[in-house]
Amino acid sequence: MINKVIDAIKAAEAEGLLSADADGILTGFSGKKLVGALQRIASLFAEQAGVCYLEVGVFQGLTLLSVASACRSLPSYGIDNFAFFDPEGKNLAIIKDRMAQLNVQNAVLINKDYEDALETLSTEIGDRKVALYLVDGPHDYRSQLMCLELVIPYLHQQAVIVVDDSNYRHVRQANRDFLVTHPEFKLAFEAYSACHPVNASAVQQQESRNGWWNGVNIIVRDLEQLLPPMYPPTERDRKLFENEHIVHAAAMAEYAPEAVGLLSRTDVVRFLASAVRLYTQVRNSRLHKNARHNNMNTYSMELPKARYNSLVK
Ligand SMILES: C[S@@+](CC[C@H](N)C(=O)[O-])C[C@H]1O[C@@H](n2cnc3c(N)ncnc32)[C@H](O)[C@@H]1O
Repeated sequence: MINKVIDAIKAAEAEGLLSADADGILTGFSGKKLVGALQRIASLFAEQAGVCYLEVGVFQGLTLLSVASACRSLPSYGIDNFAFFDPEGKNLAIIKDRMAQLNVQNAVLINKDYEDALETLSTEIGDRKVALYLVDGPHDYRSQLMCLELVIPYLHQQAVIVVDDSNYRHVRQANRDFLVTHPEFKLAFEAYSACHPVNASAVQQQESRNGWWNGVNIIVRDLEQLLPPMYPPTERDRKLFENEHIVHAAAMAEYAPEAVGLLSRTDVVRFLASAVRLYTQVRNSRLHKNARHNNMNTYSMELPKARYNSLVK
């Protein structure tokens, strides 16, 4: 199976989409090589009984419906709570409309947060095993790692995991941490581009759209240990990840994104205007009124002093 997966990736590298049938209908945030690789790898499992495709991060259905329409016998599940990129709340209706246009009957949308969905996944997929899994949801380090950890009980013996957006340093770190702690999984393929397509030139953007979008890691379950270990590049200095402790324990932790945004203002007038706005917002917020320490908040006030497992006599 691993050789077939590698061949499928090579074919996607060379030719992009497996079938262009849905090309005019489906748009989204994934490159054609990534979609082509998903379609080809899914096809390897399509005739097996008791297996399925699963993804976290459906958006408007590009990856989910590309797989479901290319492999109509393969039950395909997509988890999304529509927390991002859906300001008008239209994405669910767009997915349903596209399913109807493509006459896709084998795709199921799980409208939940990924943690809730993955912790109770059997209620949706029953005894099926996840043969191919795409991680393309929230990109913070913890979510990336939890998307990998929580799926393990449901994975097929020969499962393949595709992690989109692996250009990001923190996504590569989560992948590495998973691979190091679960040696039965091996990195089979990685591809990166110089920057996120949003920050790229028009030419680079087109390359990303035809390619892997924002980098990819493809991981295989290698129970026979056929492949040697291989890890995505990461930095040994873990300062940024260690800084999370400082942010989490800070009184103003919730404002970290705004504070970072403020520091990236290059124009001094805009910087000052943003600073005043942020200061006023924080002053008026419940955070300021609640009793918190400036830093080293533990949020342990209500916790039990000590507690045994209920089975301990
Ligand atoms: C980049 S988009 C997915 C792109 C899609 N695979 C495609 O091909 O177009 C990321 C999606 O993850 C979803 N998402 C973000 N956080 C989530 C969470 N905690 N649980 C479930 N879905 C989440 C967002 O709503 C968004 O639709």
